Amino acid sequence: MDKKEPIRLQKFLAQCGIASRRKAEELILQGKVKVNGKPAILGDKVTDKDKVFVSGKRIVMPRTKYRYIMLNKPPGVVSATEDKRERTVIDILPPELRRKGLFPAGRLDKDTEGLLIITDDGDFAHRMLSPKKHVEKRYIAQIDGEITEDMIRAFERGITFADGTECQPARLEIVPNSGGMSGIVTICEGKYHQVKKMFSVVGRKVVHLQRISIGNLYLDSNLPIGYAKKLTKLDIDAIFVGNIH
Ligand code: URA
Repeated sequence: MDKKEPIRLQKFLAQCGIASRRKAEELILQGKVKVNGKPAILGDKVTDKDKVFVSGKRIVMPRTKYRYIMLNKPPGVVSATEDKRERTVIDILPPELRRKGLFPAGRLDKDTEGLLIITDDGDFAHRMLSPKKHVEKRYIAQIDGEITEDMIRAFERGITFADGTECQPARLEIVPNSGGMSGIVTICEGKYHQVKKMFSVVGRKVVHLQRISIGNLYLDSNLPIGYAKKLTKLDIDAIFVGNIH
């Protein structure tokens, strides 16, 4: 149960799939239902904090809704669920957004900032991350020199790393008024250190990296760095809007 408001016990039992509301009322009248160790009576209301038992068996509301969180990831935290030495993106979530089973859908490097989605929906994460689904991830990369036309063309053709790994074609656009030293990179993959390695192949070092969008979901410019907010299913669906794969 996601809601904090109490609901009638028979409704709770029905939502848990124990019995119809009518049948649940009978179970209560028959004294088969206990709430927090005491026999329940008709009219009792419960929340997910209450311990409900039917014939001695604990009844828990199955979780039906997945959680999706937008984090404006700060530098200095790792994209993992737990780590022995480092603070993780899960550690910095406010308590009200936490729940069991959350994990970052994809990774940003420890020093990378920006849009990270944290969820407990494995299917969604798979869909978003699969290169076959062609969900575009966009980054602003500040680099240690000017971006040239040759670099833009090299990104367009597809960069090959020193170890032979081939990247899919990517878009590189110069950020206006950046003196040519910042680019917006659009990729559909998530190879390890991908953007940094792509620039390294063309002779540039990334000095600052921020992810600004995933599909049609943009980093909320009102969300300060290090802060997180819940996303709606509509926000999540926006990721795939216009995506034909
Ligand atoms: N590419 C990188 O090099 N680092 C990131 O964190 C994300 C993409």
